[in-house]
Amino acid sequence: MNIAVLRETGAGEARVALMPDSVQKLVALKVSVSIESGAGLGAARTDDDYREAGAGVVNDRNALLASADVLVTVNRPSREDFNQLKNSAVVLGFLRPLDEPAELAPALEHGLTAFAMELIPRITRAQSMDALSSMATVAGYKAVVLGADRIPRMFPLLMTAAGTVPPARVLILGAGVAGLQAIATARRLGAVVEAYDVRAAAGEQVRSLGATFLEVDLGGLQTEDKGGYAVELSEEALARGRALIAEHAQTADVVITTAQVPGRRAPLLMDEPAVDGMKRGSIVIDLAGSTGGNVTLSKPDQTVERNGVVILAPTNLPGTVPVHASQLYSRNVTAFLNLLIKDGALHIDMGDNIVGPSCVTHEGKWVNQRVAAALGALLTSNDGTKNNEL
Ligand code: NAI
Repeated sequence: MNIAVLRETGAGEARVALMPDSVQKLVALKVSVSIESGAGLGAARTDDDYREAGAGVVNDRNALLASADVLVTVNRPSREDFNQLKNSAVVLGFLRPLDEPAELAPALEHGLTAFAMELIPRITRAQSMDALSSMATVAGYKAVVLGADRIPRMFPLLMTAAGTVPPARVLILGAGVAGLQAIATARRLGAVVEAYDVRAAAGEQVRSLGATFLEVDLGGLQTEDKGGYAVELSEEALARGRALIAEHAQTADVVITTAQVPGRRAPLLMDEPAVDGMKRGSIVIDLAGSTGGNVTLSKPDQTVERNGVVILAPTNLPGTVPVHASQLYSRNVTAFLNLLIKDGALHIDMGDNIVGPSCVTHEGKWVNQRVAAALGALLTSNDGTKNNEL
């Protein structure tokens, strides 16, 4: 059985799906691993590092794809890459099944079995496979570093002979995995931090990191589902949150927004007046850019400037910290592959409570209800000409 790893080709993507230490672990399971030449360079790993770990290094991308029993990627393969895979191959990666279900058409056409890292359930048994948390951790950290680098002032309180420098003020919107890491990082740099989230449970975590939790009266509204995720709020509840945020943004030097609702457009938390109320020299970093953004003015991967306030919406911050992002991702992927490999061969147990739910298509058929529903919604909201081919 051959596990193949491609060189990622997306703009600004420097991560690699498997690092050499994971290759070593997989080879010990009696499977072979092949990697496209140069795939690890962005993450500071050479072809020789992979050879030493036991992988074969292949120059010909199409030959590598044709030999793959399992293709492991960071980002969803292109249609051209999908076309080179043999029927019945397995694909594993961030496939964006809920955001872009129609793009998985080639997996159906080629009879593939596709697993989406995004769909791995967040149960205790699957914690070592939780790539969403790994990447959110990196993104939360890097957003603060980026903010600290871009603002025209320092973060910590300094008492110097030339006078006192007050600490920077950081406002974090959405205190999930990325938000909590951002709070911790900003606190380590010495900032005064405030945070807001609709989930009441986030309050305790925010306070335990030394930040102030901003609370808004949502009239006893249900704000989270059984799985602990935020639900989509009514416009009235969102408006109350926005008013509180606008007030606190006025004094912030850095605002980092991370709010997401799984499978939905990201909630809009800052409108134009909220940005207009901010100080010159402050910065907003919108981490929800790939799902529509939390800030009306933000544009994915572009720098917007408004009255001296900079608004960034980087969609791939983990890709800018490729060594650690790859290391964490590679370990998540390897933990998942451990579930699929028995005695050196593929063994897919769809009854497993991690394998089944994370499978998008199995042998060329849709198996995931949420993905099928997302596709159905797309077909009814679009003209559907292309998607109807599914
Ligand atoms: P996420 O990326 O879906 O959302 C980020 C944050 O945005 C969440 O905290 C959410 O409550 C918040 N949010 C959504 N709508 C909002 C709004 N209108 N205003 C303000 N904030 C809003 O969530 P993430 O970071 O993936 O984690 C969500 C939950 O899952 C958390 O409770 C986290 O602790 C939990 N979790 C559990 C894991 C496990 O048990 N293995 C692993 C990872 C996360």
